[in-house]
Amino acid sequence: MTSGSQRSLMLVLKMLVHNQASLLTGVLTAVPAYSYFKMMLQRLGTTVVPYYLDEEQGWAMEVEELRRALQASKGVCNPVALYVINPGNPTGHVQSRKCIEEVIRFAAKERLMRCIRKVCSGRAVSLSPIRRFCLR
Ligand SMILES: Cc1ncc(COP(=O)(O)O)c(C=O)c1O
Repeated sequence: MTSGSQRSLMLVLKMLVHNQASLLTGVLTAVPAYSYFKMMLQRLGTTVVPYYLDEEQGWAMEVEELRRALQASKGVCNPVALYVINPGNPTGHVQSRKCIEEVIRFAAKERLMRCIRKVCSGRAVSLSPIRRFCLR
């Protein structure tokens, strides 16, 4: 238990970072995203692998874009994790069940650890069914 989700995430990510490796450890991170997370990644000595949310689709997350980002990171860093915020911050987008399932399959296939920041209370969730990612 930690005081706040960011501290937990930092502890988990610390275990995934290989400081001695020739390539920096990478974490797939949404753009736009909560900026503190990016600062935390830098402090840990990891690098952000940006994936862009689709503004025209209400800032939805697209698996095709995750594939593109992962491909672009090859040879540049060693991507080990996928960071997801649901509902999005600062976008407020709540992901569909279909999207969540696709993202989980993608992360499993690519052997990326899923780091999920979810908010299960408040306005965003009261407007739609609670859709959860599970950390398994
Ligand atoms: C996406 C996201 N990450 C982290 C935080 C900070 O949360 P905590 O205090 O649980 O570390 C917030 C707070 O709003 C947030 O929206």
